[in-house]
Amino acid sequence: MEIIRTVAELRSWSRALRCAEGTRIGLVPTMGALHEGHASLIRAARLSCSHVALSLFVNPTQFGPNEDYARYPRAFEADCALAEREGADVLFAPGVEEMYPAGAQTSVEVAELGNRLDGESRPGHFRGVATVVAKLLIAAEPDRAFFGQKDAAQVAVLRRMVTDLRLGVEIVVCPIVRDADGLALSSRNAYLSAEERAQALVLSRAVRCVEGLVAQGERRAQMLLASAHGVFATEPEVRIDYIALVDWATLEPVATAVPGTLFAVAAWVGSTRLIDNTILD
Ligand code: PAJ
Repeated sequence: MEIIRTVAELRSWSRALRCAEGTRIGLVPTMGALHEGHASLIRAARLSCSHVALSLFVNPTQFGPNEDYARYPRAFEADCALAEREGADVLFAPGVEEMYPAGAQTSVEVAELGNRLDGESRPGHFRGVATVVAKLLIAAEPDRAFFGQKDAAQVAVLRRMVTDLRLGVEIVVCPIVRDADGLALSSRNAYLSAEERAQALVLSRAVRCVEGLVAQGERRAQMLLASAHGVFATEPEVRIDYIALVDWATLEPVATAVPGTLFAVAAWVGSTRLIDNTILD
């Protein structure tokens, strides 16, 4: 596996390959501290692409001033080992100045979508995400880019961006990978104490509760949201950020769940903000 530090080298890698017939380049953007969720994206990319680049960049612009940028877990050696083991061809690990040249003023804002769900509680977050992903897509020019459903609002924002900017890349969304007890894998799970880890299960319990009700025929948002709030009430230490039933494309609330509706939760467990969701059948 080749480790690349500059945009110019990433672009050369991609362009050289592109000349050969039958090449399909896959890009897996990450912020590192890789786990099985990230590994599943690399595997999905390998299945449908001839060449796979994994990017590893803790993107400062998607963190708010009081968020965890400084203490976000960084594990470069272990990440290299995982990426190599899963068969990534290239690991793109730029420095901050490489992604944001001195004096940088350009950003990508997905106007309305970018201010919903996580964008509402983390102002500027999706501007940072859209900006860095646009830069990565422009640099790597992949045929496909792989993202996790775990960050479902992020997927909605990035799909909109790719359509609006006509970036011509196919966005592939991969299922949420969970621990055996249901907790969605996240680099931020490393922050949880044993007690918080147990409390954090309330997110996946709320998700399962709503899935169960929908399977029984309940479609009314009011009922589904009330049930989810009921599940959270069993874990009063956990502070709800949002519990929402929305259209997955627009992130606007819906009154009735239909196939493809997104049920999403975000909550604070101690000082750690976690998210979970399901796309309803
Ligand atoms: P990060 O949180 O590192 O996640 C990288 C990718 O892994 C995202 O597409 C995310 O949805 C996916 N992922 C995380 N946990 C997952 C899980 N349990 N199951 C399946 N997929 C999972 O998301 C980001 O980084 C950044 O915002 C990024 C897109 C890289 C832009 O900086």
